[in-house]
Amino acid sequence: MTTADAAKRAAAEAAAALVESGMVVGLGSGSTVRYLVMALGRRVREQGLRIVGVPTSTETDALALAHGLTLTEPDGTPIDLAIDGADEVERGTLRLIKGLGGALLREKIIAEAAHRFVVIADAAKVVTCLGARAALPVEVVRFGHKATARRIAELGGRPVLRQDAGGDPFISDGGNVIYDCAGFAPISDPYTVQRNLRAIAGVVETGLFLERAERAIIGAADGSVSVMERVR
Ligand code: A5P
Repeated sequence: MTTADAAKRAAAEAAAALVESGMVVGLGSGSTVRYLVMALGRRVREQGLRIVGVPTSTETDALALAHGLTLTEPDGTPIDLAIDGADEVERGTLRLIKGLGGALLREKIIAEAAHRFVVIADAAKVVTCLGARAALPVEVVRFGHKATARRIAELGGRPVLRQDAGGDPFISDGGNVIYDCAGFAPISDPYTVQRNLRAIAGVVETGLFLERAERAIIGAADGSVSVMERVR
């Protein structure tokens, strides 16, 4: 296991300990959430934990079923707690960039539907200003997506169409394409970036998650964790 994996696992296992029987739990996506799903599966098997999960991607859906979790649709009961990874966590504000895995739309729907939203990440994801390490993912409807990309470019976003391993456009679970936009960095005013992008007709959603996370559990390579609260 790499040091990054050890850090992800530490954060995920600390978050799994927050889950109580009877909860409906939003399950994010990505490699850190993989450890969360494994830890929750263990608690279900070994401790009789009774929870219902709401997955944010087809990948998490399959993984959760493989680990014995019971799942439901987001339209069912209210979500008590959503737990998800992030590509960047801004120190102090706990604003996030998400979506490098391509699941940002469903992740945001679940994060907004949940009473509580907790982020899990390894320490390398913590930044002082958004945009420091990740290009901002922007999900765009396929129809006329190049025209939409030109409008994103006019905002200074420098959009690059994401490709899958075969060199074809990456298609999200929602059937859309994603443009990775490095040009907004450093994102010192994420609200304006969000508002300007969402004002473009073909933009479905952006990877900016603002004001949702109540805390971030940050894992270190030695297996220790620290908890970051929102202070501004
Ligand atoms: C998926 O679309 C993303 O938002 C992930 O939550 C994010 O990329 C974190 O993934 P890792 O845990 O794999 O770094």
